[in-house]
Amino acid sequence: MKYLKKKLTIENVKVNLIAKKYGTPAYCYSYSKLKRNIENFKKSFQSFSPLICFAVKSNTNRDLIKEIKKFGLGADVVSMGELMMAVKAGINPKKIVFSGVGKTFEEINYAISKNILLINAESESEIKLIEKIAKLKKKKIEIGVRLNPNIDAKTLRQISTGKKDNKFGVNSSTFIKLVNNYKNSKYIKLKCLSVHIGSQILDHKPYEKMLKSIIKILKKINYKFEFIDLGGGMGISYNDQEKKLDYKKYCIAINKFLNEYNSKIIFEPGRSIIGNTGTLISKIIYIKKSEKKNFIILDAAMNDLMRPALYGAVHKIMPALKKTKILKKNHEFVGPICESTDSFLNLKKFQDLKENEIIVICDVGAYGMSLGSNYNLRPKPIELMIKGSKIKIIKKRQKYLDFI
Ligand code: LLP
Repeated sequence: MKYLKKKLTIENVKVNLIAKKYGTPAYCYSYSKLKRNIENFKKSFQSFSPLICFAVKSNTNRDLIKEIKKFGLGADVVSMGELMMAVKAGINPKKIVFSGVGKTFEEINYAISKNILLINAESESEIKLIEKIAKLKKKKIEIGVRLNPNIDAKTLRQISTGKKDNKFGVNSSTFIKLVNNYKNSKYIKLKCLSVHIGSQILDHKPYEKMLKSIIKILKKINYKFEFIDLGGGMGISYNDQEKKLDYKKYCIAINKFLNEYNSKIIFEPGRSIIGNTGTLISKIIYIKKSEKKNFIILDAAMNDLMRPALYGAVHKIMPALKKTKILKKNHEFVGPICESTDSFLNLKKFQDLKENEIIVICDVGAYGMSLGSNYNLRPKPIELMIKGSKIKIIKKRQKYLDFI
């Protein structure tokens, strides 16, 4: 995204023109950024050629998943819907892993029928259910077991998953017990140890700790896993100060790990692949001036982008038309929804804005549209992808009649 003669552009297309042609709010993705992210990710870890399974929960748009598939990526899914979507987008089932603490009979049955690479089980009860279904189908099922390594990922509390009081995975002693119980099972083939300690991780040290704790456990069991699935969580920069995760340092730590325990590595990145590719384009409906601040009331709301309301996440806002006049007054960018948490950003100053002007909310490609809802019976926004000089509608704007 850059300004050309003061006009904000995505892939050289003026944001104002996109807003005029397709309406607002609109999600708009940049294909070239997506390509760059994937190529950079692959290159950074090429020393051990991991299987990269895109975390579909971060963005469930079928056309985007289709593009991601063309780079050879697989998928990490957490529900029957996501699994169906990944298959529909053409992802090879042998590159699909299925995570989640509450997979149902129906979901496991479906995953088995699709012959996916791995079901990453998260409890003893789940393994028992998989075994029961396997018996019925007279089939040996390949699974992973998710370890909860009790590591603090040093990220937001709400998106941390690897501490012992989080619901995910099993602790080390249960893990060891499960491996011993199932290593000679007739119906279960233990193929993978999986972990995922959290999301938006910016420091490589929690990953180093995680790898050390995996090695410790592997040394206690005499069992060879074909795969070690390290999950996702690689953090990106949402503002100009923050640094993204240093892939080089993470890669060094993994290479060290592989020297001690040779196996194939699986990653499940979501945000690091799709996060900075998406922008939410929105129009200012009203500007409400109060003594202390100006409320900039947008036509985008928390139902379109939940992250600020849900996690206090901060997304940069940029005007479509750059002006030199700065207004030194508090600005609060809000949506029209009847909740005080329907607020995107508070700033001490911003350029002078007018009603009907267009602004963009940055880096919303991950957990933007996928977390959206119809709260207040607001239709979900249109999704666009800019590829080369073409703008493609990759999801139509929802119509009121779709849900009324
Ligand atoms: N694998 C598993 C098992 C996961 O639970 C997740 C994310 C990922 C992979 C992908 O993580 P990523 O590379 O995208 O960080 N809604 C929150 C993020 C929740 C993440 C949930 N699990 C947000 O908006 O920040």
